[in-house]
Amino acid sequence: MSRPTHHPFDHVGVAVTRLDEARSLYELLLGAEGSEPLELAAQGVRVCFVGSVELLEPLAEDTPVGRFLVRHGPGLHHVAFSVPDIRAELARLEAAGIEVIDAEPRPGAHGLVAFLHPRSTGGVLVELVQRDG
Ligand code: CO
Repeated sequence: MSRPTHHPFDHVGVAVTRLDEARSLYELLLGAEGSEPLELAAQGVRVCFVGSVELLEPLAEDTPVGRFLVRHGPGLHHVAFSVPDIRAELARLEAAGIEVIDAEPRPGAHGLVAFLHPRSTGGVLVELVQRDG
């Protein structure tokens, strides 16, 4: 199996109950201005970025982030790495026995994204991002 190219860190996702409050907090912590909130209906979240932190507010309890909040409360949700070719990466990782949540990448805030199951990644929800252009 060929070795992948290095996949740089992209962002961490943090699950929050109130996007406006969390955005103000991270603006204070990081000294950076947050992006305008963006609704990703297909993923059931409203998101906003402050630096390399993605804040995720669920649109309903019956969504992946909504269920996460019920189970764990607010906090670290996922870590994302940037990949040049997300389909090739999913194929490579699946072949190596990694359990993939999204066999087909879906549109995220900055490009195509896919999640790997924490069962096969040491308890950490991992997101792969193939950024637009
Ligand atoms: Co993310």
